[in-house]
Amino acid sequence: MFDKSVPHDRDHPALPRDLHVAVIMDGNGRWAQNRGWPRLVGHRKGAEQVRKLVEMCPELGIRYLTLYAFSTENWKRSTEEVLGLMSLFARYIRREAGRMKREGVRLRFIGDRTRLNDDLQMLIQWIETETAGNDRVHLTVALNYGGRDEITRATRAIARDVAAGKLDADDINDDVLSRYLDTRQLPDPDLVVRTSGETRVSNFLPWQAAYSEYVFTATLWPDFTPLSMQNILNDFAKRERRFGGVNA
Ligand code: IPE
Ligand code: IPE
Ligand code: MG
Repeated sequence: MFDKSVPHDRDHPALPRDLHVAVIMDGNGRWAQNRGWPRLVGHRKGAEQVRKLVEMCPELGIRYLTLYAFSTENWKRSTEEVLGLMSLFARYIRREAGRMKREGVRLRFIGDRTRLNDDLQMLIQWIETETAGNDRVHLTVALNYGGRDEITRATRAIARDVAAGKLDADDINDDVLSRYLDTRQLPDPDLVVRTSGETRVSNFLPWQAAYSEYVFTATLWPDFTPLSMQNILNDFAKRERRFGGVNA
C-alpha cells in the first residue's frame, strides 16, 4: 500500500523535523455520489483513509496531524448526515483507541465540544486522557470547529480575564492570544492540504495558518492515500518559506 520506491528525504534541509500538516478532508460526499451511494458511505471510507494516514505519520516525518472533520457550518446538512457523522466519530474513537495507545498517538480535539451530544463529549474526554502520555504522533481532530468561532471564544475568555484583573489589556499580544485558542498546545501548521479540488479555506485555522504553505489537490478524500501525502511532502520540501524576510 505504501510505495517506498518514491523517495522521501526526511532529512531534506527544507523539511522541518517535527512537521505539522493540517488537512481539510473534503470530497467524501462526491466520492459516494459518483458511485450512486449514500454520502455516508463516503464518510466511512474517509475514516478508513484517516486510519491509514495516521499509521504512516512517523514514516512520513509528520509529528502533528490536524484533521478538519466537522465545521461549525456543517450543522446545515441533513439530520441524517449530521447524526451519521456523529456516530462515525464515536465509532472511530472506540475502535481506534487500542491501536492509538499501542502506536503512541496522542489524540486531541479542537472546536466547541459543548454542542456535541453527551456520549460523544464523554468519549472525547476519555480518549484524550487515555492517550495523554503519548508523544510519537499528535493527532488533532477539528470537530464542530470554526476559526471565527475559536477566535470569538478566545476573545470572550480574554475579556473575562481582563475584567477579573488576571490579565492587563496592554499585555495582550499574539503569543497571549495564541494561548487562548483551542490549539494552544500545538505548533502552527507548516502545511495545509485541501482535497477535492476546492480552493478555499472554509474557516479552518485562519490564525494558525497565517504563514502556512497551502496545497490544493483534486483527489477526493476517500481516494487520498499515504502515497498522495508523500508526493505532496516531496513538493513542499522544495518550497522556500520566507516569513516576510529575504532569503539569501
Ligand atoms: C468532507 O466531505 C467531510 C465533511 C465536511 C464532514 P464532504 O461531505 O464535504 O464531501 P463533498 O464536498 O460534499 O463531496
Ligand atoms: C470543509 O468542507 C469542512 C470539512 C472538511 C470538515 P466543506 O465541504 O464543509 O466546505 P465548503 O462548504 O465546501 O466550503
Ligand atoms: Mg465538501
